[in-house]
Amino acid sequence: MTDAPQTPPAETPTKPVREERSVGRKSISASLKPRELLTDKPRLARAWDARVVTLLPQAFPGILGESLTGKALKDGVWQLETTDLRTFGEGRHKNVDDTPSGGGAGMVMRADVVGNALATAHRGARHPMIYLSPRGKKFDQGMAQALARESGVTLLCGRFEGVDERVLERFDIMEVSLGDFVLTGGELAAQMLLDATVRLLPGVLGNAESTVEESFSNGLLEHPQYTRPAEWEGMSIPDVLTSGNHKKITQWRQEQSERITQERRPDLWQAHLKKD
Ligand SMILES: C[S@@+](CC[C@H](N)C(=O)[O-])C[C@H]1O[C@@H](n2cnc3c(N)ncnc32)[C@H](O)[C@@H]1O
Repeated sequence: MTDAPQTPPAETPTKPVREERSVGRKSISASLKPRELLTDKPRLARAWDARVVTLLPQAFPGILGESLTGKALKDGVWQLETTDLRTFGEGRHKNVDDTPSGGGAGMVMRADVVGNALATAHRGARHPMIYLSPRGKKFDQGMAQALARESGVTLLCGRFEGVDERVLERFDIMEVSLGDFVLTGGELAAQMLLDATVRLLPGVLGNAESTVEESFSNGLLEHPQYTRPAEWEGMSIPDVLTSGNHKKITQWRQEQSERITQERRPDLWQAHLKKD
């Protein structure tokens, strides 16, 4: 992720840390629900460091607090800190947005508010800063792999019509899109990005092989999968998979993988052919 900034601009005004909550090993308790795992720091030195700037900190860890990512969070493989944009708001009502310059529908998140929140959230970090945005570079497995090799990431979740362009320029933030559709806010996109990345961190998945063979890891989509029962609704498992011949099974899976990629994703197939 060399195209993302390592630190915020030095002279960016930094307000005192407010309303930041972190999730991590210090808060382990088998009886607690994910949101209840939010505690005050300290940060864990070796944990992959996710920082999220959002108007909806209560939406985190959300699904990331469950299953494998949730266990890894409790075990301190990664940590999560949210920064509540609202507490950086202006005036009595803590306003974070205003009408778009030049007119038009909706509201835009203010540069000063977002800038202060980002500078605070990112302090001391040497990892990339990303704004989740439909205008951004399309997120893919390669980006997840690159992020997993970083020490962490700082994510900015937009709301309304998005954020004032100046804050993006000032922090030289990388814009990343989860796809060609428009979400109401960046929180779901942030959770998807974090899920795809955290599962690649060493020790998160039980079976290390599963990231090697899955879709996209070798530029192809995955082959079909089957399990018991051997017969279901008149359909049986392909004979080769129950033959015990591992060479034939590997060959069949490779052929299926290539067939499905050709049929469904000609773009991936062309890229795969060029690679060879
Ligand atoms: C309603 S959207 C703003 C859309 C913006 N006015 C536009 O047309 O590009 C509000 C926020 O949702 C997030 N968002 C929406 N779609 C997204 C996507 N496809 N990928 C990542 N983030 C997205 C962004 O953070 C964005 O600032």
